[in-house]
Amino acid sequence: MDNLEKHYEPNNLSDKIALGFTKFLRFLADTFFKKRYGHRAVVLETVAAVPGMVAGMIIHLRSLRKMQDDKGWIKTLLDEAENERMHLMTFINVAKPTWIERVIILMAQFIFIITYAIIYLISQRTAHRIVGYFEEEAVRSYTEYLHELETGKIEDEPAPEVAVNYWNLPLNSTLKDVVRVIRDDEAGHRDVNHQFADLINLRKKQKSNKKNQIKKEDQEKILN
Ligand SMILES: [Fe+2]
Ligand SMILES: [Fe+2]
Repeated sequence: MDNLEKHYEPNNLSDKIALGFTKFLRFLADTFFKKRYGHRAVVLETVAAVPGMVAGMIIHLRSLRKMQDDKGWIKTLLDEAENERMHLMTFINVAKPTWIERVIILMAQFIFIITYAIIYLISQRTAHRIVGYFEEEAVRSYTEYLHELETGKIEDEPAPEVAVNYWNLPLNSTLKDVVRVIRDDEAGHRDVNHQFADLINLRKKQKSNKKNQIKKEDQEKILN
């Protein structure tokens, strides 16, 4: 349980912006979906599968331009996007979006691709931190969903076939089991994206330390 409830405390302005942005979107989602967890999952998973693909593409193009190794980031991010798409393929068997939700999905995809790409180009660190925080919220939402299923407020049902095949689940699995494995996936994405943001932070610090060191050496040379 410990691993599931992990929260990354914001350390700098970039983290705070990422957390604020996430909390704002969480508020919108809570207001719109309330306790309709199946519908919430369908709509939000269509958004969740975007950042990995956008980030993967941007790093891919940068790697081509700079002729520099990506250190495995592209594959990790594309795998994340694929995994999120499988969450969607699963939940579409549980809840069918209403027409208004389909309109929201269309608009959200259009807006989110552009917004996330811009954020990524301006601050890669903030962009990964945002996904880290999104995933913290996803873990929380799936815990709430699971609670509703466990207490019988939402009726449990057999796991969709696509989920049984994708996660190699026992044939008698139910929606509860599916929500558990999906929540584990979200916790994994959360950790990866927070780590990516931390690595970028570290690189920035090392760079500025190096710059200061060179400045200091130059000053000493002048003084001597
Ligand atoms: Fe997901
Ligand atoms: Fe996710």
